[in-house]
Amino acid sequence: MLTVNRESKVSLTQQVYEQIRDGIFEQKFSEGEKLPSTRELASSLGISRNVCLEAFDRLIAEGYLDVKPRSGTYIAKGITFQREQEQPRPVFPTKGSNLPKDVIDFRAANPAMDHFPRNTWGRLSKEVCRDTPEAAFAYSGSEGVKKLREVLSQYLLKIRGVRCHADQIIITSGATQALYMISKLIADRNDQFIAVEDPVTDEMRQIFSLAGAEVHPVPADEGGIIPESLPLHRKPSFLFVIPSHQFPLGGTLSIQRRVKLMEYSRKMDTYIVEDDYDSEFTYEGVPVHSIQGLNPERVLYVGTFSKILSPALRIGYAVLPPHLVGRFRELKWYTDRHTSSLEQLVLARFIEEGYLDRHVRHMKKIYKKRRETLTESLREHFPDAKIIGQAAGMHLVVEFPQVVFSKEIKELLCETGVLVYPVEDYSLNKGVHQHKVVLGYGSLTEKRIEEGVKRLSEGLQKYM
Ligand SMILES: Cc1ncc(COP(=O)(O)O)c(C=O)c1O
Repeated sequence: MLTVNRESKVSLTQQVYEQIRDGIFEQKFSEGEKLPSTRELASSLGISRNVCLEAFDRLIAEGYLDVKPRSGTYIAKGITFQREQEQPRPVFPTKGSNLPKDVIDFRAANPAMDHFPRNTWGRLSKEVCRDTPEAAFAYSGSEGVKKLREVLSQYLLKIRGVRCHADQIIITSGATQALYMISKLIADRNDQFIAVEDPVTDEMRQIFSLAGAEVHPVPADEGGIIPESLPLHRKPSFLFVIPSHQFPLGGTLSIQRRVKLMEYSRKMDTYIVEDDYDSEFTYEGVPVHSIQGLNPERVLYVGTFSKILSPALRIGYAVLPPHLVGRFRELKWYTDRHTSSLEQLVLARFIEEGYLDRHVRHMKKIYKKRRETLTESLREHFPDAKIIGQAAGMHLVVEFPQVVFSKEIKELLCETGVLVYPVEDYSLNKGVHQHKVVLGYGSLTEKRIEEGVKRLSEGLQKYM
């Protein structure tokens, strides 16, 4: 019943082993059935007896075969089982599936991958591998590498006005993990709720729901969250805000509104979770400092290296009030032990040796140029359109008074080869932002941006 293929790259021993093992699962052999002796099998297959002995030994060691002395080799008992009838299961569409080939995607997610500092990162990785003491290759503390936390606390104070000791920082696998763990820690029951800016990123909203809490929308306008609309009937577990560069509307929260948020959190005895994901890139004026600096006891600050460097690194962090650090550290340990120490060490050197500052300066020029290209192209093709949002980050919002961005229009535009993101998709309260779309430009070259706006114009002409 067995065969061998001498042309195959798979060894003869492996072929015999696999055929018997698979034959058992496919019920070609039954339990207790006697197999031919290795001598008989070898001669029928025209191979050496050693090959058969080796394959049998492995099957015996793994429990598939039993040897009965002076009797022979048998298929072991208790190893066959009825396989489940395979049911056709629905295949869930994944993000980005079924997109037409050369589509220009204005998704505000990725930074400029074409400018990742590959050479420097590669050199520093090599240096870390060569110089780092052996202990760094073992498990390390769940809070993350001390060196990185120390370097980061200085960097955050200087650049973002974040006031913290290195021990208050926990390195996470991106802001995503930090936000999920914060929700798990302080809002994991369905009788709790989180107040979020509306509109807000769909992903962050889903993260909060996944952790167990209800999500309560608080309207935001072009200046960010509207403090007068904060819920007073019930205390939220926390209030989620992106005060430096609101996503998607792109506003920067004024100091007056910031003070109102502080008063609210004190009055309701609750926390504020501040997401500060792209504010290093400000193209006009000076970047406004974090709200964490106003009240480090009540604000949990979340940052990431996904936009400033690359999301592929999966390095983010949470800056916590000291009384939350222990529980967060424990949760991180049971989630994934810790984020890669080696990548953290490389990043620490990258910051310490001044490469991050240099990279940010370089990228600011690139993104500023990409933003200008986008705004100029928009003005050329759509003189009536209004550009919304602070000149910062890697996206902007455009309002087209004539257009309602329905699902159909989005699809029509996709057929024209351009993907845009209606603000309504990010809104909890529907109907407020129907004329607005988010256009991310961080990962698109100037040529692609111009072409994308041209396609947008062609697509919308078909509609109007
Ligand atoms: C609002 C917001 N914060 C943070 C992030 C970064 O997430 P991560 O650090 O997990 O890549 C994103 C990603 O797109 C985002 O939209």
